[in-house]
Amino acid sequence: MTVNKTNDVLGIGKFEPTFEAELAARYDIPKLPGGPQRAEFLTEHAGKFRVVVTSGQPGIDADTIAALPKLEAIVNNGAGVDSIDLDAAAKRGIGVSNTPDVLSDTVADTALGLILMTLRRFGAADRYVRAGRWAREGQFPYARDVNGLQVGILGLGRIGTAIATRLLGFDCAIAYHNRHRIDGSPYRYAESPLELAESVDVLVVATTGDHRTRHLVDRAVLDALGPEGYLINIARGSVVDQDALVELVAGGGLAGAGLDVFFDEPNVPAALLDLDNVVLFPHIGSATARTRRAMALLAIQNLDNYLHTGELVTPVLRPRS
Ligand code: 8YV
Repeated sequence: MTVNKTNDVLGIGKFEPTFEAELAARYDIPKLPGGPQRAEFLTEHAGKFRVVVTSGQPGIDADTIAALPKLEAIVNNGAGVDSIDLDAAAKRGIGVSNTPDVLSDTVADTALGLILMTLRRFGAADRYVRAGRWAREGQFPYARDVNGLQVGILGLGRIGTAIATRLLGFDCAIAYHNRHRIDGSPYRYAESPLELAESVDVLVVATTGDHRTRHLVDRAVLDALGPEGYLINIARGSVVDQDALVELVAGGGLAGAGLDVFFDEPNVPAALLDLDNVVLFPHIGSATARTRRAMALLAIQNLDNYLHTGELVTPVLRPRS
């Protein structure tokens, strides 16, 4: 494979390892330095770059966009584009692409893992055996069945739908809330997150994370889910009022929670660490070798395509031509 040296593509942030390797096999791309060298680098080179590639963190804010006067497209390795200032990009006609679809099944598998672990307390059961408590204390306490439950999905998009399909195999009754009802959906529609939470045993958060969904799951929604209810989040920490969640799950206001995402990753509230009714994952929703490779290749396909045709393959925002 030939490595293309480009003068008009800039890498920003820390890349996911598979993306880093696949990109390096094809392109020799400079990275925006951090610290005091950043300003110096931008003064010297900013005018060259037409495309930015990024892998989510720390994101592309309005200042960075403003510092790149020739920028035409941002290629993101990841489905969520919440760390990119889309308003600033849209104002300049800058295109933005993401990596949808290729990760939906894997993220849905993660959601099912969290549901099973949280309700059946599989993590706590495993710790019970390892700590020698089975032999000492006997029977592990009974847990809650997943089969036959009412599950609410907040955000019935590609990932939400893949979660629903899996839950049908567990004979669960599915309801959902989106901004708009989906014509022809086989699932019950709830008019608001509150109405959804009131009517289900498990609320699964699968929305995008942006200013419109910030704290969509607020204290009132969590209260509606109630002491017998469970919250599962594989979307973004920003969608849930994390302080309220911690308080309720620690104080019996919620039965439990399964979380792959947090408000300030990788920082997890200390109060959650000792709770046995909570399952905590380090944002591994899409983290399998196969899926991370598919995401990397789709991001690279967007880059190749933009450089050759001026079009992105999977745009969130189309570039102004
Ligand atoms: C990854 C994700 O953490 O795609 C997303 O939006 O949250 C995850 O799949 C990330 O994209 C890795 O670069």
